[in-house]
Amino acid sequence: MKTIYLDHAATTPIKDEVRDRMMPYLSESFGNPSSLHHVGIPIRKLINDARNTILRGLNASDDQLVFTSGGTESSNLAIKGYAFAHPDKKEIITTKIEHHATLHACSFMESIGYTVIEMDVDRAGFIDLDDLESRLNSNTLLVSIIWGNNEIGTIQDIESIGKICRKKGVALHVDAVQVFGHETIDLGHLSIDMLTLSAHKFYGPKGSGCLFFRKGIAIEPLIHGGMQEMSRRAGTENVAGILGMAEAFERMLVNRESYSTKLSRQTKTLKDLVFEQVDDVRLNGPDLLERRLSGNLNLSFKGISGMELAYELDKRGIAVSTGSACNARSVEPSHVLKAIGVDEDYVHGAIRLSLGENTRDEDLQYVANAIEEAVSDLRA
Ligand SMILES: Cc1ncc(COP(=O)(O)O)c(C=O)c1O
Repeated sequence: MKTIYLDHAATTPIKDEVRDRMMPYLSESFGNPSSLHHVGIPIRKLINDARNTILRGLNASDDQLVFTSGGTESSNLAIKGYAFAHPDKKEIITTKIEHHATLHACSFMESIGYTVIEMDVDRAGFIDLDDLESRLNSNTLLVSIIWGNNEIGTIQDIESIGKICRKKGVALHVDAVQVFGHETIDLGHLSIDMLTLSAHKFYGPKGSGCLFFRKGIAIEPLIHGGMQEMSRRAGTENVAGILGMAEAFERMLVNRESYSTKLSRQTKTLKDLVFEQVDDVRLNGPDLLERRLSGNLNLSFKGISGMELAYELDKRGIAVSTGSACNARSVEPSHVLKAIGVDEDYVHGAIRLSLGENTRDEDLQYVANAIEEAVSDLRA
């Protein structure tokens, strides 16, 4: 049986070159970067080089970056760490279609007395910029927005969002976990104060991420202990993970354009095939080639269960997701599909196909045929 992995939004396979970069730091080069001897000092230098590589790639060499355990920790650090450092303001603005890392961090803040406003989105998942502007006031602490949505691929107009926040003097945190590799992230030109990245979404290792923050932005650490990471995040660094992330980051930066062009083309081909072969199917999220993540195809099939469809595809060797990976076991439609108002007939029948570097042209027809067959079995 063929194996076709179409769940790159959940995670990507680690690249050989990235793994090779990491291996020595899991064996002979084991030093602790905080040690002041010849085993540790070179490791400290490598971590600082990795930090500079990522900052330079984001066009933000004068700013700061903290290494974390991934996107979830970075977003928690941005939201809670920024709030704890600015206790005078108590209102957080976010959207209804955030990843749970943001939504649940915000719910926690609500439980300790903060006001959290989850903005509505339109049927394609976009926020209304006038609505955002009208909500910012002297008590607004932070705006936290997902740049590229992990379920339906919506790419928010982050440049305009940044300008609005800057004009109103409100800090902006951006969850860029999905968007890196699909859009250019030029922090020299965007008014973004904090930005979250996660290595395993761009062919790097799991458990490795970072939070960018502007020079001068105050953040309280959430993890207390040693003085690592400029005292923003205590604990001995995940050396191999950090070096692997920097390697994956650099490689993605070089290939970004051809990567996203290839994914857009393949996603369109697959969508066209499915729409030709299957009735009563809808695309959730923005139109393809609009402001949408290049490998994302979120489709709803009328009258069937997305869970059952994903299971049927899995039996045919095709790995896809229903909603987001984190709630794949839930039978409730995802909060994102609810927020964009997918019709009742379609909302339970959604699957997310997310294409990636290893997706081959010759597999697309096989996938479309498998979908056609599985849908017709389930509808029978
Ligand atoms: C948009 C988005 N934000 C945050 C996360 C969390 O990242 P991590 O898995 O590194 O904790 C994910 C992971 O699915 C994501 O897609």
